[in-house]
Amino acid sequence: MQTNTEIPTDEFYRIKRLPPYVFAEVNKLKAQLRADGQDIIDFGFGNPDLPTPQHVIDKLIETVQKPKVTGYSASRGINGLRQACSRYYARRFDVALDPEDQIIATMGSKEGFANLAQAITAPGDVIYAPDPSYPLHAYGFIIAGAKIQGIPAITAEEYLAGVKDALAKADKPPMAIVICFPSNPTGMMADRSFYEEIVAIAKAQDIIILSDLAYSEIYFGEAPPSIFEFADPEDVMAIETISLSKTYSMAGWRMGFAVGNRRLIAALTRVKSYLDYGAFTPIQVAACAALDGPQDCVEEAREIYRKRRDVLVESFGRAGWDIPSPDASMFAWAPLPPQYAHLGSVEFAKLLMLKAGVAVSPGVGFGENGEGYVRMALVENEQRIRQAARNMKSLMQTSETVAAE
Ligand SMILES: Cc1ncc(COP(=O)(O)O)c(C=O)c1O
Repeated sequence: MQTNTEIPTDEFYRIKRLPPYVFAEVNKLKAQLRADGQDIIDFGFGNPDLPTPQHVIDKLIETVQKPKVTGYSASRGINGLRQACSRYYARRFDVALDPEDQIIATMGSKEGFANLAQAITAPGDVIYAPDPSYPLHAYGFIIAGAKIQGIPAITAEEYLAGVKDALAKADKPPMAIVICFPSNPTGMMADRSFYEEIVAIAKAQDIIILSDLAYSEIYFGEAPPSIFEFADPEDVMAIETISLSKTYSMAGWRMGFAVGNRRLIAALTRVKSYLDYGAFTPIQVAACAALDGPQDCVEEAREIYRKRRDVLVESFGRAGWDIPSPDASMFAWAPLPPQYAHLGSVEFAKLLMLKAGVAVSPGVGFGENGEGYVRMALVENEQRIRQAARNMKSLMQTSETVAAE
């Protein structure tokens, strides 16, 4: 979401609905400091730093040299790729999905989610989305003309209670409810009873569920479930998006899936057939190799994130900043240290960058309920995480000295 905030774009109908990007201010400062030659330890952007597994790269290189792979590909994904996704759901969740009409490949899960919002939304439709949340969950629908009702969601329990409360007060149910666990930005998981209840609500009140499962494989305790462990996709109007970006460190490859209810998949397939020709075929073939090939690379990546999480929690804790340990995702969701709470998340993020050389994302960028927190992505190595904690410690000591003077 890079925007050039200097150029006026407000005359455009859809752009008017998009506020300036909250992270832009912090990103601008980061760019300035880097241009001045300063090293910034960057926990700001959830961009995986780990390499893509070698067998996936090899498959890409092998395929790109074959004849007939350079033309337009299939918008909904080649058959083999949809079949590989179906095998993943069977193996990982014990869920049977028909690759023919219950699975579509997307160019990253972001593209699939955004185009689904376009496909199913009429102006004025109400959507319940978690707050805080990955910005696409609200803005994908806002761009499509919908009205978003943000529901506080620091935890899954809070979100469920908020959804029930909103339903009790509403004249009519929303068109759709977004769920996203493991959550970006909070790293929270939802337990099985959460899914049972949300599915029961959706069925009873005819509400579409959009489940964003981008972090299906980045977990440190129990593995997160699929929504389809709790309902047959034809019994509930639900769709789930998954991604290869974090699972196989393939963020730049742009490969994901939307799976589930046939009517929803058909709607997304129709919209996409007008908009794209699918990902480059060699990328789709390499994505099959990722899904069907050896999975120890997934376990290795998970262990790297786990160690980074532990180092972050331990070293920042020793520096005097208590950060709760996330159960899943590649993010820590850190309440502002009490002595800086008055600054708010944007000013605190700027202070941290200027005085400690550490970049974090202000929580308010994920929704108004994210104020009072910052998000730290586990995309720096252990040594740099420790260095960041030492810098933070010096900053805190200096602030104490200044306060005492
Ligand atoms: C919750 C969530 N959903 C979707 C995405 C987008 O992922 P993809 O690379 O598959 O488009 C992200 C990326 O950070 C995310 O955090």
